[in-house]
Amino acid sequence: MTMDHDEIRAALTVLRARDLPTHGGRTLAYVYDSGLASADAIGREALAAFASTNGLDPTAFPSLLRMENDLVGIAGRLVDAPDGFAGVVTSGGTESILLAVLAARDARPDITAPRMVLPTTAHAAFHKAAHWLGVDPVLVDVDPVTKRAEPVAMAGAIDDRTVLVVASAPSYAHGVIDPVQPIAAAAAAAGVRCHVDACIGGWVLPHLRAADPGQLPWTFAVDGVTSVSLDLHKYAYTPKGVSVLLHASAELRRTHLFASARWPGYTMLNTTAQSTKSGGPVAAAWAVVHHIGADRYASLAGDARTATLDLASAVDGIPGLTVAAPPDSTLLALVADDSCDVFTISDEMLDRGWFVQPQMRFRDLPATLHLTFSAATAASSDLIAADLADATAAARTTGPARPPVELVAMASAIDPATLDEATFTGLLAAAGLAGGDGTLVLPERMAAVNALLDALPPELREALLLGVIDRLARPTP
Ligand SMILES: Cc1ncc(COP(=O)(O)O)c(C=O)c1O
Repeated sequence: MTMDHDEIRAALTVLRARDLPTHGGRTLAYVYDSGLASADAIGREALAAFASTNGLDPTAFPSLLRMENDLVGIAGRLVDAPDGFAGVVTSGGTESILLAVLAARDARPDITAPRMVLPTTAHAAFHKAAHWLGVDPVLVDVDPVTKRAEPVAMAGAIDDRTVLVVASAPSYAHGVIDPVQPIAAAAAAAGVRCHVDACIGGWVLPHLRAADPGQLPWTFAVDGVTSVSLDLHKYAYTPKGVSVLLHASAELRRTHLFASARWPGYTMLNTTAQSTKSGGPVAAAWAVVHHIGADRYASLAGDARTATLDLASAVDGIPGLTVAAPPDSTLLALVADDSCDVFTISDEMLDRGWFVQPQMRFRDLPATLHLTFSAATAASSDLIAADLADATAAARTTGPARPPVELVAMASAIDPATLDEATFTGLLAAAGLAGGDGTLVLPERMAAVNALLDALPPELREALLLGVIDRLARPTP
């Protein structure tokens, strides 16, 4: 069956109807809205114009190489990259991080069981890199009050197997900048690379520096920083699919470049994980970055920062809620007291038209509500504060979501290493999540499910969520 243009358009509109809105400032995770219609239009036009070009061979599509080099240059200037720096454009923060870890690992072939030192707040992408690349993560608890990495403990965790030390600017979970100076100094003293994950802060923190001279230093200006990742599809407000990984020198980048001539086809020559890659995202990023320009980025960053600080002070007046740590950037994490829970508040906010992201507990760090502020959210600062107060009051009336004791006991008895289909199906049924034909049915309100997962150890959470994605990602009958 074929569909004509109008039918396709109508069908896509129907498909899209249940998605979160990408614009309007009401989705406070996953999406970034500059509020500039012209930037969106220009980005989409470039995305479409370059959709079928292929970054596989830069000599065949020199426009893409040129735009990548331009973006790397602009990113480098933002984060004080030294003379001789080098970088690559990747598909996103996770790919940039995978490559930073790969480069660090392969620069030390003498270390047979490599390790990397991570604060517990380092992004989960480092755990993916650890898993894929066989680099052991050594987790170091952060300061329980500031939620920043503890430099002395980080330094103490470096040993002769360490290939990489990581800090965030800021951390996604709590929105705080790690003390990069002492961490990078300890790494340098041990002859180890130090990566600063500025995936979410890289295009916003530099623009806030003028207004906030007290911002903790985190760029290449800090001695010992060897690589920095920064995503354009976040605060550069470009369409999805673009991040930059910068190295202090071309030599540091060398170990993630790849060539293979060991087959009778074209020699594969890649700077990143992808081989064939659409030139659409890079062209869109080039267009948006040049359209918005430094001055407007500064004003957008200021708007998002003001919205963050406004909500943080509004939270002081909301019974049941506190700010997890004073925000250093444009992200906020909120903690609920015993009268309510963040999962119910998240559901209540969704009822009021806002998506705020629940984050589960880890070690001694409590569950939180995460809010990423875009420039476009600034226009509704008062509204979000009022709805958050209202949602929290409603959650206090219901009281904290408590998963049934028997269900927690049933789930806790599962060994994540041996979780099989039958046990998983039994658990879904007991939790009321199984459809008649054994399919997974997610409830409208997620608080009970999230509270159950939050009560379980992370390894078990992972195993159960893998079961969930496995059930969800099945061919349409
Ligand atoms: C600090 C940080 N690092 C890495 C990532 C991963 O980026 P991506 O989702 O583009 O792979 C994110 C995403 O939010 C992030 O905030």
